[in-house]
Amino acid sequence: MSRVLTGIQSTGVPHLGNLLGAILPGIELANQPGNEAFFFIADLHSLTTIHDADIIRENTYATAAGWLACGFDTETGYFYRQSDIPEVTELTWYLTCHFPYMRLTRAHSFKDKSGKLDSVSGGLFFYPMLMAADILLYDAEMVPVGKDQKQHLEFTREVAEKINRQYGEELLVVPDPIIRDEVKTVPGINKNETGGFTKMSKSYGNEIILFQPEKKLRKRVMKIETDSTPVEDPKNPDSDIVYALYKLVASEEQVAELRDAYLRGGMGYGTAKQLLFEALRDKFGEAREKYDYYMQNKNLIEEKLREGAEKAGPVAYEVLSRIREKMGYKRYAY
Ligand code: ADP
Ligand code: TRP
Repeated sequence: MSRVLTGIQSTGVPHLGNLLGAILPGIELANQPGNEAFFFIADLHSLTTIHDADIIRENTYATAAGWLACGFDTETGYFYRQSDIPEVTELTWYLTCHFPYMRLTRAHSFKDKSGKLDSVSGGLFFYPMLMAADILLYDAEMVPVGKDQKQHLEFTREVAEKINRQYGEELLVVPDPIIRDEVKTVPGINKNETGGFTKMSKSYGNEIILFQPEKKLRKRVMKIETDSTPVEDPKNPDSDIVYALYKLVASEEQVAELRDAYLRGGMGYGTAKQLLFEALRDKFGEAREKYDYYMQNKNLIEEKLREGAEKAGPVAYEVLSRIREKMGYKRYAY
């Protein structure tokens, strides 16, 4: 059995980047014979930026509903909320104390995120150690993530290797990242200052959320930034966001047709956007219905998370006990 683990921060409703970069590839891996999946909602990570209990709760449901809507099988896999297994915070401390401060100061995601916030918490700085704890607490072997998380996985491997050298080679399982090349980074709806693509992200406000009413989804797609090439002129598909997104969700045939239409000229971006909207609506139709169902029946989500905590908790407890003992700590029951 190979153990696959991944988490999504509950900072809002999952967007297209989350679906293509994390949820769908994760489910695909979970469904492969011989794999055992641990998928969780990283609600403690959300606390680095959100300080409102109602929003934390609502986002947790939205994220969980995203996994369930996309078809994660919670019977065979482990599906839980990070905060339900508090062992993870204790392990975070053990890891933090073994990881060089200077390495954390070089985290790309910290630099990106802290630059956009008025007030930066210490939690945001230690975020990679909480993520490493998420992974090491369950002896995960494979971690499917988007390209942006590569450095966090390197930190995880580094801290695990360091601890293994110190306390015994077998103590922690050193995980491998699984980064899907064909998905890479899903672009957001706006271009950057130099006219290039940006990463779709909740923190940049450039995301496409599929789980919303059709009208709103269409409106969002229509907002995608394009250049001002006139309708009749040929267009460059390779520098266009609409085409880049279409490539990720439409069939090969459909993509080839759209490519021709760009190169030929005579088609406006509005038509391309309409095609993208239809491709999104068709590809994710069933998932969108299921999402609404779960969000209207949150008790069903709670039930799944409770079962998940009951399954994941004992695994975490056992791994943490192993680490504690090696580091010279024990714990009395109370
Ligand atoms: P966000 O950047 O919107 O806050 P998260 O950081 O919560 O998204 O990402 C959750 C998961 O989705 C991670 O595995 C991440 O790599 C993946 N992901 C997020 N945005 C993208 C994207 N634009 N392209 C590919 N994968 C992404
Ligand atoms: N940091 C990840 C992100 O923002 C989410 C995450 C938290 C995660 N813990 C994890 C991903 C453990 C994989 C494994 O995308």
